[in-house]
Amino acid sequence: MKVTVFGTGYVGLVQAAVLADAGHNVCCVDIDPTKIEKLRDGIIPIYEPGLAELVKHNYHDSRLTFTTDAKKGVEHGDIQFIAVGTPPDEDGAADLQYVLTVAKTIAEHMNAKTVVVNKSTVPVGTADKVQLAITNGLQQRNKNFEFTVVSNPEFLKEGSAVADCKRPDRIIIGTNSKQAEEQMRELYAPFNRNHEKIIVMDIKSAELTKYAANCMLATKISFMNEMANIAERVGADIEQVRHGIGSDPRIGYQFIYPGCGYGGSCFPKDVQALVQTAENNGYSSEILKAVEAVNYRQKNKLYEYICQHYGVEQNLPGSLAGKTFALWGLAFKPNTDDMREAPSRVLMEALWAAGAKVQAYDPEAMEETQRIYGSRDDLVLMGTKETALKGADALVVCTEWQSFKAPDFEVIKSELKSALIFDGRNLFDAARMKPKGFVYRSVGR
Ligand SMILES: NC(=O)c1ccc[n+]([C@@H]2O[C@H](COP(=O)([O-])OP(=O)(O)OC[C@H]3O[C@@H](n4cnc5c(N)ncnc54)[C@H](O)[C@@H]3O)[C@@H](O)[C@H]2O)c1
Repeated sequence: MKVTVFGTGYVGLVQAAVLADAGHNVCCVDIDPTKIEKLRDGIIPIYEPGLAELVKHNYHDSRLTFTTDAKKGVEHGDIQFIAVGTPPDEDGAADLQYVLTVAKTIAEHMNAKTVVVNKSTVPVGTADKVQLAITNGLQQRNKNFEFTVVSNPEFLKEGSAVADCKRPDRIIIGTNSKQAEEQMRELYAPFNRNHEKIIVMDIKSAELTKYAANCMLATKISFMNEMANIAERVGADIEQVRHGIGSDPRIGYQFIYPGCGYGGSCFPKDVQALVQTAENNGYSSEILKAVEAVNYRQKNKLYEYICQHYGVEQNLPGSLAGKTFALWGLAFKPNTDDMREAPSRVLMEALWAAGAKVQAYDPEAMEETQRIYGSRDDLVLMGTKETALKGADALVVCTEWQSFKAPDFEVIKSELKSALIFDGRNLFDAARMKPKGFVYRSVGR
């Protein structure tokens, strides 16, 4: 099938490459000319396992093309995906300007019947807005092409986006058009062979399903962080509690890790956006507000531990002057270079404000860190996790990269000024750290 994808970010590029790999003919459109140029040169602007090979291979075979020419893009596809960003606006609601700009662009250039698919995470009612924007655009041109707007939210996880897209748990299709449903079924048939994964529902329910899923996951994390904070105060070990409750199949082991808070481009903004949607509809979502508040507090946790350890007041300029912290992990989670809303940023910014320096290492996110913060005296990016330790006062773990889980503790001890670790991801066995000679502070233990 001929497909056009607007937006070549984490969602658009991965979905486009996976669809092309299954044999569809996919044209990617982005307004960022540098990104498009890089993609044509085989340079993948984001880190996602397996993506580079997939893009290069399908580009080479001409099933995947890249353009900034929206007209060319619109004319290419029988199905037009909108996969652009929906960042939060000032009050936390999803900013739909990019989605609606694409809708207008489609209306400006379409010259045949089409299906428009909302892949971006958008609040309930957005399909109606896209419908209206396209109708208005066509009216201005005095055209009357038939089109349908479908909601098809994306559930991929950064860090395993290609695998998730190739083998989705479910494919949600929100539509009231039998014809559009049939086209979407044909498009996704290669991904629906093992068992039925397509769930067809009305558009609003599809739009809400995406928010409900992310908010449920964010709730699990904040709930566990809440338990960790209680465990710390009563002298319990949250890791033992985690095992204890995970064994209940109604709860399960997934997504109940305590830590220094959730980040990324989805959970924080989607929780805020659903709170806002609820408010706009006369409902105050107490659970989601608490999920957000707990996470906000949790992202300060590592800084709090550090201040407690040194006996200094929080947010006091100069209180950590002269100290250097080795940071392991900058990305908001492992296997990605995405730094959006990363807990490491909250920590670094607090340390800098207190006069401390940071020596950081991340397997993939150092370029992105450099892009965000530029060069500054109090941030040094190091080439390996070992060199990041050199002469630092303590090690702080912000991201649970696999390569951090079984380090050489003797090296850590010899490279640091003192054997001190603040672990925001509970990577190490607390009981083993003291005999190894470490002062070890982790979450909820
Ligand atoms: N990142 C994830 O893990 C994830 C998972 C599921 C859903 N989502 C949702 O998918 C959407 C996209 O997220 P993302 O992380 O891929 O975003 P992103 O910021 O990585 O990429 C968005 C891309 O859209 C491009 N763009 C903006 N306006 C455009 C236009 N008018 N025409 C063409 N391209 C345009 C930008 O240049 C950028 O390359 C969001 O709504 C997000 O909430 C993201």
